[in-house]
Amino acid sequence: MNQTTRQPKLLKDYAPPNYLVDTVDLDFALDPNATRVKSKLRLRPNPKAGAAGRPLVLDGEGLVLQSLALDGKPLGLDDYRLDEKSLTILSVPDRPFNVETVALCNPEANTALSGLYRSRGTYCTQCEPEGFRRITFFLDRPDVLAIYTVRIEADAETAPVLLSNGNPAAAGKVPGTGRHFALWHDPHPKPSYLFALVGGNLAQVPSRFTTASGRDVALNIYVEPGKEDRCGWAMESLKRAMRWDEVRFGREYDLEMFNIVAVSDFNMGAMENKGLNIFNDKLVLARPDTASDADYGAIEGVIAHEYFHNWTGDRVTCRDWFQLCLKEGLTVFRDQEFTADMRSGPVKRILDVRALKTRQFPEDAGPLAHPVRPASYIEINNFYTATVYEKGAELCRMLQTLLGRDGFRKGLDLYFERHDGEAATVEDFVAAMADSSGRDLSQFMLWYNQAGTPELACSLDYDARSKQVRLSVNQVVPPTPGQARKEPMPIPLKLGLLGSNGDDLPLKLAGGAPLADGLIEVTGREQTFTFADVPTAPTPSLLRDFSAPVRLNISLNPDQIEFLMMHDSDPFNRWQAAQSYATNLLTAAARDGGSEEPVAGREAIRLAQALGTTASEASLSAAYRAEFLKLPSESDVARELGKNVDPDAVRKAYEALRATIGRKIKATLVEIYDSSAASGAFSPDAESAGKRALRGAILDLLVGTGEAAEIARGLRHYREASNMTDAIAALSILSHLHVRDEVLADFYARWQDEPLVLDKWFAVQARATRPDSVETVQALLSHAKFSLKNPNRVRALIGSFVNGNPTGFNRADGAGYELLASSALQIDRFNPHMAARLLGAFESWRTLEPRRQALAKSSLRQLASSQLSTDSYEIVTKTLGAD
Ligand code: BES
Ligand code: ZN
Repeated sequence: MNQTTRQPKLLKDYAPPNYLVDTVDLDFALDPNATRVKSKLRLRPNPKAGAAGRPLVLDGEGLVLQSLALDGKPLGLDDYRLDEKSLTILSVPDRPFNVETVALCNPEANTALSGLYRSRGTYCTQCEPEGFRRITFFLDRPDVLAIYTVRIEADAETAPVLLSNGNPAAAGKVPGTGRHFALWHDPHPKPSYLFALVGGNLAQVPSRFTTASGRDVALNIYVEPGKEDRCGWAMESLKRAMRWDEVRFGREYDLEMFNIVAVSDFNMGAMENKGLNIFNDKLVLARPDTASDADYGAIEGVIAHEYFHNWTGDRVTCRDWFQLCLKEGLTVFRDQEFTADMRSGPVKRILDVRALKTRQFPEDAGPLAHPVRPASYIEINNFYTATVYEKGAELCRMLQTLLGRDGFRKGLDLYFERHDGEAATVEDFVAAMADSSGRDLSQFMLWYNQAGTPELACSLDYDARSKQVRLSVNQVVPPTPGQARKEPMPIPLKLGLLGSNGDDLPLKLAGGAPLADGLIEVTGREQTFTFADVPTAPTPSLLRDFSAPVRLNISLNPDQIEFLMMHDSDPFNRWQAAQSYATNLLTAAARDGGSEEPVAGREAIRLAQALGTTASEASLSAAYRAEFLKLPSESDVARELGKNVDPDAVRKAYEALRATIGRKIKATLVEIYDSSAASGAFSPDAESAGKRALRGAILDLLVGTGEAAEIARGLRHYREASNMTDAIAALSILSHLHVRDEVLADFYARWQDEPLVLDKWFAVQARATRPDSVETVQALLSHAKFSLKNPNRVRALIGSFVNGNPTGFNRADGAGYELLASSALQIDRFNPHMAARLLGAFESWRTLEPRRQALAKSSLRQLASSQLSTDSYEIVTKTLGAD
């Protein structure tokens, strides 16, 4: 079986390429089933490899080689070897030389959506990480940078728009053929994974941007004809991102043109190809009636993310795929900072930390745990993970916290200065930060190389006589697969000490200067920090702004947590206090098999009252109050339990606490609900979106009481909705209840011909907590509008079910596991990347109670004994683990 023969690639085995490519000339004749790609490569031996006389090995997969020439001379069968993965030219000159190939590929048959494929008739490409080799023979690795010139020829009628990277150089008719061509030239050297091509019948939405230095840039968004009216938000977001990168990081755009194309079939969210970003259309198209505030927010963030890659990814790229976090972690950090500036900083931080804890913490605690920079991989596609992305972004954030904003900016400037036009490593990045700041960051490298979430156990002692506080910190980095023993990490710990009136006390380390920013640095396994001149016993607020991606343990009593919930000046920790208070109640109830006392008794009522008080605080933004009112999710509770999890007990506890809160502070909630109703036309701005979010959070609590009048309110919210945000909020809240059929039918009737909206209809049903949710999803798999071939639809139905419906996926009879196994197996045959991603949902199976564990294991075992792609095989076998 091919799957067992794939050897892991190791970081330590990195060797520079034997040959370099200076220029690439590509000539495409687009055809649905037989696209002809002529390529002319200008190569030379790599002086750094000392590889003179070695054969030239080009990557190539699924290509039909039609001709091959070296320096203009056709090569015969004895001169080269061709196998399924590569083309080897046995002998090449010890000086610059040309290799010309002509090959055919079949875009229409490309169901893996990697390489050149078709999406609703449009030709498009996805080359990262290793798709370029499915287009032409090449040294398909990120440290081979070349200058590309691309000619595209296609039928003028069906593909009037022809795009590639860089600047347009020429275009015209091909006389007497009905075909036309376009020529593109990209002056910036780039690796093959940033190559892109688009051909199709697309509508153009044009605009312009003037850079800080006064250069005029043409901006275009290309979409399916008829969707032009849904591009305004994406275009405005792009301009805001371009300006922001100039102001915050001094980075300007560097071509005459920037193009974005939206396609319906895309494995990921979007891709940063130089000058030609290709997007999943759900991250471009938005109109108030079709897109929710969450969609608007995602569009703004992802447009910015891909744009920011122009510097962090394109101008400075990665030496090899082990360095993926170098571009992804850094670019996620940049897009987080952008969104924080466009909207609310604290709310953005809450959302990001919630995502980190939901997606990355379980990964770090499970069988797929790996360092932010992995040391080995079998299939690189499996390493676009929450750890590389989200934890990778946290590492950049910690550097900024340690160096300060200006220090971080200086470090980044030095990084660009040193590595512009190069393929860099994590070491290069950290060295730029160290050299520009004069700090020793060698211990910091552990964050890139050690997997696992550090656990910080803290305790506080107050001595009234000496007026001193002693903070003891103990860190443990848990073992992860392949890394049994760990070194202590450097942890920036932001903190505050609250006095009895709730204000922050001045912080001063004994024998030291005042701590202006409240930042201490933990570097050892066990450390004690002594604070002087503390007038009274304080309440500690630790890990403010979530200053490091760690688990914090500190035992505070309910009074102290409530105190923080009411007074903490750090908005993140204030929110965190409310979450902790609720989590303690929920875990107590769930451990007890779903007992009522913790979630209905005295402490639950206290929580309700504290939530009501905060929700009414007019000085806080509506968006922040909305987050405050959201209870910890079922997965938050499961993660906190850590083992022997019974998802039904967790759900029961969750519903009971929600009902307690809804009943207890109903009057307050209703008042806020009524007074924050919007008037006037829809606007996606942060403030209006915050109000809608607040009303949505309140509606969830009210409907959660189960009272008929509140369910009626939910129905009214749906019927009176004048935008997608309100409609989908009501629809998902009602989807758990008997009234769901009526609203779902109405929604379907209205939106059945709008694919992106119909995805929401599938997703809402997949997430609904119902005893028969497995059967519902099963039935929807056969729905006329469902297709396994469209990634958005698969994610909407199967992805939402396995990641967003814990009681359904983990149903006690194992039917949820079987559903995932059987659909992933089908998908794996034509789109391995997609299948492997879905199978990630098994990652926490060992934290379940024994019966569910056994059922999950049996589904995994069955998968492991099936014919799987290397992608899925790697995930399944690693998830199963050693025993
Ligand atoms: N470079 C990636 C897209 C990508 C990832 C292509 C994996 C091929 C394989 C892009 O910059 C990216 O990170 N996209 C994210 C969205 C982003 C906002 C985190 C995505 O597609 O999910
Ligand atoms: Zn990215």
